[in-house]
Amino acid sequence: MRDFVCPANHRQVVLSSDGASLISEAGMHYPIRDGIPDFAIAAGEDIPPGGNQEFYRTRAHEYDRGNEVMYKMLLCEEEPARNDMIRPLKLQPNSRVLEIGCGTCRDTTRLLNQASIVYAGDLSFEMLAIGKQRLEDSNTDFDRVHLFRADAMRLPFADGFFDAAFHFGGLNLFPDIAGALKEMARVVKPGGRVAAGDEGVAPWLSDTEFAKILKNSNPLFHHAAPIGKIPVNARDVSCRWILNGSFYMLTFEVGEGEPQLDLDVEFPGWRGGSHRTRYFGRLEGVSPELREIVIKQAAAEGMSISAWLETTLRKATRT
Ligand SMILES: C[S@@+](CC[C@H](N)C(=O)[O-])C[C@H]1O[C@@H](n2cnc3c(N)ncnc32)[C@H](O)[C@@H]1O
Repeated sequence: MRDFVCPANHRQVVLSSDGASLISEAGMHYPIRDGIPDFAIAAGEDIPPGGNQEFYRTRAHEYDRGNEVMYKMLLCEEEPARNDMIRPLKLQPNSRVLEIGCGTCRDTTRLLNQASIVYAGDLSFEMLAIGKQRLEDSNTDFDRVHLFRADAMRLPFADGFFDAAFHFGGLNLFPDIAGALKEMARVVKPGGRVAAGDEGVAPWLSDTEFAKILKNSNPLFHHAAPIGKIPVNARDVSCRWILNGSFYMLTFEVGEGEPQLDLDVEFPGWRGGSHRTRYFGRLEGVSPELREIVIKQAAAEGMSISAWLETTLRKATRT
């Protein structure tokens, strides 16, 4: 429990004296139910009914059967398909991994087989309860797997706590997809990797019967890969379509901030200048006649326009 932080301010939480909750510095109590800390609600609050979570709350017991049917109808074998999904995380035996939206933990032991520690969380306590049973049935070492309940948009972990983060299956219906991807990137250290995927037929298949049949039965297949919602600090980004082109899978490496540029590389050619002069040094325009004169004069003096303007304006301003 000691590695969780308050999802609101990312500060430490401590175990209450009765062991029933985790308490944040701000005095929030996060209850622990059946050994699973609940960061989605604070003690005393109720889980609001309705919304997309209703299915996972009321019909969690049907999920595994439905999942098996899905792989069957897609003519895909679940084991190799799921192994393929986690491959881009490039896990090492000492990796610490986040799995958010773990559901009934169908990937959790798979992740654990390749990593050292897995934190597996979901918004549905009912899904987590089935997942916990699955882990117990497979004699999972609970020193290496930590279950928690939390919202993907508000993770109870410090910045850069993980080597990798994984999500599969719920992204399309997250209320803030960009926020969730950014949050996954926040908790992964620079150089670590994120993979997230969900239903979404590959664009080149959209007019096929394959796509129409899938979309007819399940409107989630209408979703497009949310490429524009990938955070700006993502590097080495790829989007591939898996399970015969019916699901997208985004993967990226976590970088720091926006990509950088060397602003001072001089451009060859008649305009000259650099990104810095062109972007940060923009001035007003001049009359079209003067423009032509300046271009000719700069060429006559063997200079780029940028160099000629810089020299001439410095002379005029005595700087
Ligand atoms: C289709 S299931 C996928 C479960 C599992 N990843 C799998 O592949 O079998 C989607 C899961 O995402 C969870 N989920 C939905 N919204 C969530 C959110 N905002 N934060 C965390 N989990 C969420 C659901 O409770 C559900 O367990």
